[in-house]
Amino acid sequence: MASNTSRSSHLVKVITENSTKIEAYRQEQGLPPLSLGADAPLDVKYPPDVEECRRALIDASLELGDLATGPVELRLVPGWAVMTMFGVTQFICDFNIAHQVPLTGDVSYDDLSMAVNVTAPVLRQVLRAGMPYHMFYEPRPGHVAHTATTKVIAREPLIKDWTGLSTDVLYPASTGLTEALRKEPAANDPAKTGFMYAKGDGETGMFMYLEKHPEQARRFAGVMGAFHKDDGYAPRHLIDSWPNDLQAGKLVDLGGSTGAVAFALAEEFPGLEIVVQDLHGALEAAQVREGKNVSFMPHDFFNEQPIKDADGFMFRWVLHNWPDVYVQRILRALIPSLKPNTKIIIFDEIMPPAGSMSLSVERCQRNIDFGMLTLFNSKIRDVEEWKEVITESDQRFKVAGVRYPENSRLSLIEIVWQP
Ligand SMILES: C[S@@+](CC[C@H](N)C(=O)[O-])C[C@H]1O[C@@H](n2cnc3c(N)ncnc32)[C@H](O)[C@@H]1O
Repeated sequence: MASNTSRSSHLVKVITENSTKIEAYRQEQGLPPLSLGADAPLDVKYPPDVEECRRALIDASLELGDLATGPVELRLVPGWAVMTMFGVTQFICDFNIAHQVPLTGDVSYDDLSMAVNVTAPVLRQVLRAGMPYHMFYEPRPGHVAHTATTKVIAREPLIKDWTGLSTDVLYPASTGLTEALRKEPAANDPAKTGFMYAKGDGETGMFMYLEKHPEQARRFAGVMGAFHKDDGYAPRHLIDSWPNDLQAGKLVDLGGSTGAVAFALAEEFPGLEIVVQDLHGALEAAQVREGKNVSFMPHDFFNEQPIKDADGFMFRWVLHNWPDVYVQRILRALIPSLKPNTKIIIFDEIMPPAGSMSLSVERCQRNIDFGMLTLFNSKIRDVEEWKEVITESDQRFKVAGVRYPENSRLSLIEIVWQP
């Protein structure tokens, strides 16, 4: 293995080359240099070749920062940083600070203090804690103004939902993990997760908890819906890899939530008649609207499937939420409705082989995988784990193919029922 000195020189080179390419592209496009200042454009989308440079720059600078930080500080400091960012962001959202600070110009701590009813010294203390993390700045003594990252909070209501979900769900779930694993070392019961120990009240799992907490269910559905705006989760990847022989007929979309994906499929394939099934509360929270060729039906997918004449069943981004035994129960509940060659489409996360991802992608994948454990006692399966859980449900489920659409975070597993 290369010594740290040569590794750090290599990373510096990667950083220089890639930041030069990104800045050149921005200049060509009439965009300002990279910045998080108040006037920075909020969401610049790059073409694929420049996006690749951006990824390489992020990866190299993360690694270089970690190398320079060193082992002891690395274990002590970032956790604290995350908690500070987390607490400050929650405060900003809960006290509506981003809306009280003008989008241009600044406001005095005294005026802001009166508007949000927190004394000025404490307000300043909290906001200053966020400043090293690019949240607000002081353009002149005693005054505070937006940076680009706090403007995003003011402009994008979803950030508030995402922050609330982190505070009320993700964070308590991770703090409950130790207790959960002490009591349930096999981690295979959705009722006994980190989340359920931290927040639950005897429900059978997170989704039943959400059934009892409609406001949290609304927020959950909103955040899930927002993922579709991320190009990696865009419905077009499902459409592009959709099997030719399932473009007409009746399709059941299990755990289909707001129907966003069903509407996109129905738009592309007018011959499809789609029934979106989800839990009663989830359908209510999603404020569904009936649309052309798309209808909604409350159904718990652990119960026997009531639709007996479907040509296909789909689980889009659903089964990664469940431990193996539960995935098997969900698949088996379809069996009474299956005819020879009925298709079951799973469109979901497939964990790439360990060590094949860049640092930032690996962190992101592992964040999701860890969240699956703390929230659901489930995991992001690799392709072999998927095949195993499917065929162990019943040998008559045959995996006919796996497709990995380019730039998609989700992949398609096609199953055919062959009795
Ligand atoms: C991660 S979301 C995916 C939603 C949607 N398929 C998509 O691709 O955006 C998982 C969905 O499964 C639903 N779900 C959870 N438990 C269920 C159950 N027992 N029966 C039916 N749906 C359920 C949830 O309400 C939620 O809408």
